[in-house]
Amino acid sequence: MSDARGGRRRRAAARAYRVRPIGFVRSPFKNPEDFPPPAFAPPRFLDRVKGEVVVFDDFTPGLESLDGFSHLIIIFAFHRSSGFKLRTVPPGQSRPRGIFATRSPHRPNPLGLSVVRLIAREGPVLKVSGLDMIDGTPVLDIKPYTRRDRKSRSTSGWQAKRARPAR
Ligand SMILES: C[S@@+](CC[C@H](N)C(=O)[O-])C[C@H]1O[C@@H](n2cnc3c(N)ncnc32)[C@H](O)[C@@H]1O
Repeated sequence: MSDARGGRRRRAAARAYRVRPIGFVRSPFKNPEDFPPPAFAPPRFLDRVKGEVVVFDDFTPGLESLDGFSHLIIIFAFHRSSGFKLRTVPPGQSRPRGIFATRSPHRPNPLGLSVVRLIAREGPVLKVSGLDMIDGTPVLDIKPYTRRDRKSRSTSGWQAKRARPAR
């Protein structure tokens, strides 16, 4: 069986990856549908959404030395998402795209990744802006956003030429 079809490597990977929440999100948005569709949101809407990432006590020593990083990468579970399609029509679009070419919350592994701005840290609580997660979202990991994450020559595939609906 080829590597891509699975077999031994797939079984080994399935055993290796177990995740548990290290905290949760406090967000002004209570439900996934409370966010405006991207095409209708005012410019930089999400940048202004403030909230908190609350880290459980047993993981707070891991927050040491985060101060001084302007942005954080938050990896989280889309805990209110169920099911997925490998091809999906993104909001405001008419053409289906492969799920891995989208940021849809309906994915084979419902994992999300957001870059947020770190405003302040108060013990186990990270005050942040730029949230696109709902209240209670389980946080699986936090990483500092570093110079190496900036890609000056990135391109945006189908998103670069996506049609904006008439306002
Ligand atoms: C398009 S996704 C992008 C999330 C992240 N930036 C990413 O790229 O993985 C953001 C949308 O997911 C939905 N959402 C946010 N938190 C969720 C959760 N915990 N469970 C299910 N859906 C959620 C909201 O509708 C939000 O507008």
